[in-house]
Amino acid sequence: MCGIVGYIGSEQAAPILLDGLSKLEYRGYDSAGIAVFNGSEIDMVKSTGKLKVLEELTKGGATLPGFSGIGHTRWATHGSPTDTNAHPHYNKDCSIAVVHNGIIENYLKLRRKLEKKGYQFVSETDTEVLAHLLDYYYNGNPLDTITKVLYRVEGSYALGILFKEHPEEIYAVRKDSPLIVGQGKEGNFIASDVPAVLKYTRNVYFIENQEIVRLTKDSLNFYNIDEEEIQKESTEIEWDISAAEKAGYEYFMLKEIYEQPQAVTDTLRPRLKENEILIEELGMTEEEIREISKIYIVACGSAYHTGVTAKYVFEGLARIPVEVDLASEFRYRNPIFQPGTLVIVVSQSGETADSLAALREAKNCGVRTLGIVNVVGSSIAREADNVMYTWAGPEIAVATTKAYSTQLVAEYLLAIHFAKVRNQIDEQQFQSLLNDLKKLPDQIELLLGSKEKLQHFANRYLATEHVFFIGRGIDYAISLEGSLKLKEISYIHSEAYAAGELKHGTISLIEQDTLVVALVTQKSLYKKTLSNMQEVRTRGAFVMAVTNAGNKEVEKSADYVVYLPETNPYFTNSLAVIPLQLFGYYVSLGRGLDVDKPRNLAKSVTVE
Ligand code: M6R
Repeated sequence: MCGIVGYIGSEQAAPILLDGLSKLEYRGYDSAGIAVFNGSEIDMVKSTGKLKVLEELTKGGATLPGFSGIGHTRWATHGSPTDTNAHPHYNKDCSIAVVHNGIIENYLKLRRKLEKKGYQFVSETDTEVLAHLLDYYYNGNPLDTITKVLYRVEGSYALGILFKEHPEEIYAVRKDSPLIVGQGKEGNFIASDVPAVLKYTRNVYFIENQEIVRLTKDSLNFYNIDEEEIQKESTEIEWDISAAEKAGYEYFMLKEIYEQPQAVTDTLRPRLKENEILIEELGMTEEEIREISKIYIVACGSAYHTGVTAKYVFEGLARIPVEVDLASEFRYRNPIFQPGTLVIVVSQSGETADSLAALREAKNCGVRTLGIVNVVGSSIAREADNVMYTWAGPEIAVATTKAYSTQLVAEYLLAIHFAKVRNQIDEQQFQSLLNDLKKLPDQIELLLGSKEKLQHFANRYLATEHVFFIGRGIDYAISLEGSLKLKEISYIHSEAYAAGELKHGTISLIEQDTLVVALVTQKSLYKKTLSNMQEVRTRGAFVMAVTNAGNKEVEKSADYVVYLPETNPYFTNSLAVIPLQLFGYYVSLGRGLDVDKPRNLAKSVTVE
């Protein structure tokens, strides 16, 4: 995620901004920039690449003298990582500069309106809309101007703002994107996270949604959206910098597991408009959607597993035949394409060599391609005919969690949209699916609340040698992911099996106390899976079941049960994966392994 810093005080601002940004590097970024008020103008330097580049360009900040400024590390969302798209952004006469974290969801509408009023945009970002809107509403009173802008924007934001006409002040505001204010002896700070200011102060204010802050070098004023001054309590930070970079979590993986409700919301929300699904970036007319004759979902690892789930959803709801392919197989197997084929390539990094090669293979055959990608401006995002971004934010742990969850919901959105356009579901079914989709973030949050139980359970299996994950239908798809999550970070051998397939060979491996994790979320298949659980249990297996709330029947065939909140059967994977991620995480942690960087693995596999 992007990082924000701001400083106003009696020291030179630029070196403090660069230092603060360096403490936010862990959030992931692809460009950086700073703006400093030099006594008469707002100077700005920004650049793609690492902070080192910005430090060199500004000679450690020396080329930007001044006592107040704002800085930003950008992780590209709207517009690829370029110097121009980097923050801060100016208004037209460079008298206002703004840095932004978050996503302005109605930016296109606002941009069109502003363009009609003569505003010229230099970047592709949603943030530049804010700079011009601030300009449009500017009336000499920054607080009043900011509130007017806030009433017009939809989405999430944390902003740092400089007004040239108010050189003794900086302003900040947030909604659904974190922002803190640090109160120091030699000046005051804003930041998107505490580590950026810890070197200077431990006295911090946590800003709430739609609170506005006015900072001078020796004062802080807080306002609500009605421009009324409010009082806030400061907090004394007691933890140290290294803990803070992971926001207090021991590993990035756990932090990312906990970011899933937000990541899923961020991926769903921009595409859910007034009880409709609007996927502008799809670039397909309704006619073209009706003409789809077949979908290939091509990916590697966990991204492939989302495809295995999506096959059930596309086929079940939209009645479009789907083949799911491992990219490394697809690229060499000479697949048969027919008119109306759509190839969907799913990838967190957008750089996975096999997935990229598969995409190119499909394009060479003249087939329409769609990327579902997390990293903006990555190769797959650039080369696919169209790209639907997942808004998971940067994922640092090698084992994917939040990217996986956002890929799933992106695929659900597509499947439901296709089903509606192709008249395979009626309005009532459509609305019911949307309702269940919207509940997912809260339901994920609820499941995260029982992490201690999973930790306790995981601690019993630290020395185990083999684990089997079983399920039928979508439950089989979840098994694949649960098994990979466990094995890649714990180094315990695990396998996923379609539950009915066990007795065709693998059941001979079941011994006394072998752990079998059974996924039992598909009502129509309950009975069948319960029989398979009985089969392994009578051979000595210890069975952990993951099932829907209320399915007490399962307790007769399992030794330990995790219950999931009620959702549409097509979406259960989004919930069932949470206890499995936590289980993998806690087994790895308990075995004393490096959870975030398992041996032999890389975050982005750019070789064949
Ligand atoms: O960046 P991608 O989504 O294309 O990566 C695909 C796989 O390499 C990735 O999902 C991998 O399997 C992870 N280690 C799973 O946690």
